[in-house]
Amino acid sequence: MIVAVDGPAASGKGTVARGLARHFGLPHLDTGLLYRAVAFDVRRLELDPAAEADAVAACDFDDALLAEPALRDDDVGKLASVVSAHPLVRAALFQRQRRFAYQPGGAVLDGRDIGTVIAPDADAKLFVKATPAIRARRRLAELTARGLSASFEQVLDDIRARDARDTGREAAPLTQASDAASLDTSLLTADAAVARAVSLVEERLRGRAGA
Ligand code: CDP
Repeated sequence: MIVAVDGPAASGKGTVARGLARHFGLPHLDTGLLYRAVAFDVRRLELDPAAEADAVAACDFDDALLAEPALRDDDVGKLASVVSAHPLVRAALFQRQRRFAYQPGGAVLDGRDIGTVIAPDADAKLFVKATPAIRARRRLAELTARGLSASFEQVLDDIRARDARDTGREAAPLTQASDAASLDTSLLTADAAVARAVSLVEERLRGRAGA
């Protein structure tokens, strides 16, 4: 079974995807990490993230890079949303995600275009959202926990800028698939969000079995 989890930055999609993978005993891929790895290498190699050919040259990274803690840095996330707008970067990362999704037994993937592009026939699709202010508060708490400092306004501005880039680009923009169930995590704890996600997926599977 393939479960697609999409949503904007700090919406809770990672927590939900990890929780679903644990619950259903499935492997999980955080596809944002792939774009972060490209961004990280673009920076390391002193390439230009706005130039498509430069960004493509950084797509052939080693899997070991995905374990690099610096991929989680906020500036790498920002750069990731620049390199991810290039169609040839998305094409270069497509097969890797596809293979993961369609492996025997299934998988859970989270990102921006899983339900729309990578696995359009996924068995269950969730679109995870939360208000920008709540997402900014969560991101700020994550940064503080890692010993980094930022103001709420700065984090909120970054979240809005990233939303604008991710939804406004032409190549696979962030959008809710027509057959995805919405999950608003604004007022939910992490455990409650996962529990709700499990019941939404089970509902979808029952719907499919009865179809
Ligand atoms: O964790 P957070 O939501 O902050 O970001 P992420 O999921 O790691 O993704 C970083 C950036 O990669 C996003 O802002 C998107 O521009 C891009 N991305 C994408 O285009 N498609 C995906 N499937 C996943 C991420």
